[in-house]
Amino acid sequence: MKPPVLTVENFSVDYLGTHTTHAVKEVGFTLARGEVLGLAGESGCGKSTLAYGLTRLLKPPALITSGRATFHPGTGDPIDLASLNGDELRRFRWDKISMVFQGAMNSLNPVISIRAQIEDIFTTHRPQMRRPEREKAVGDLLERVGVDRNRMRAYPHELSGGMRQRVMIAMAMALDPQIMIMDEPTTALDVVVQREILDEITRLRTELGFAVIFITHDLPLLLEVADRIAVMRSGQIVEIQDAYDLYTTPQHEYTKRLLASFPSLTGERGDFIRTGASDARLGQLEETDQDAEGALQ
Ligand SMILES: Nc1ncnc2c1ncn2[C@@H]1O[C@H](COP(=O)(O)OP(=O)(O)OP(=O)(O)O)[C@@H](O)[C@H]1O
Ligand SMILES: [Mg+2]
Repeated sequence: MKPPVLTVENFSVDYLGTHTTHAVKEVGFTLARGEVLGLAGESGCGKSTLAYGLTRLLKPPALITSGRATFHPGTGDPIDLASLNGDELRRFRWDKISMVFQGAMNSLNPVISIRAQIEDIFTTHRPQMRRPEREKAVGDLLERVGVDRNRMRAYPHELSGGMRQRVMIAMAMALDPQIMIMDEPTTALDVVVQREILDEITRLRTELGFAVIFITHDLPLLLEVADRIAVMRSGQIVEIQDAYDLYTTPQHEYTKRLLASFPSLTGERGDFIRTGASDARLGQLEETDQDAEGALQ
């Protein structure tokens, strides 16, 4: 396995109240440099809480009750995220770890142009950049995610949901982070747009080499895009495996049930089709499926 970019140990989060919820319980995993790690599990199992917790974005009544998240830069000493103060954390968040959150496309400011919103990241984090350089960077970023650079003058309401989500992904990529956390980045979009954006993310990951924590309840989708998959249930990671192994030889009862709940994965014809390119073995699996399909015809 490649060297780690993030290690998470014994991480727990509670929501305090008359009935305290133990939303994340002693979670531990390692994210390798350039890896796409999928995080799957039913609604309410704690996926978003874990993502917000790792990036220290939780607000009361949430409380991190145990554990540690350590970032490993390419060079230099590991950084315990709990050791960063407010300013350091803000810098760290866009620069090293960035996020696309559930419903992110609605968090663009409606009265500010796309260009100004993206430029703002550069003004804050790259103050040495000059105006023409910034403008070029905004255009390049938009093009990278499949948005015409001329749309930079648009306001959010002038863009479709898919376009706005692409803009959010562009913003998350602006400073070339080493980790991107994507929490249901495409769930609100129709299947075609979702597919296009996923292909884009897969391509960019290969090109730029960032690691991704990809959160979704859509397990078939994760089998396509992720190198490894962690299955979460009631705040715990019950199983973490190579995507191919998880599909072919799930270990935990809950993973088996989860896989079985997607008919497209278990149907006789096995119409599981892989289009991503992160694991050659899954490509072979696709061929096998097609062979089986051929035999049935
Ligand atoms: N602000 C909050 N206050 C109290 N409890 C909360 C809060 N936010 C989340 N929870 C609880 O924490 C648990 C985990 O929620 P979380 O949103 O992390 O789940 P999730 O896996 O992201 O779900 P989904 O797939 O629906 O997005 C749930 O039981 C939820 O009710
Ligand atoms: Mg969530």
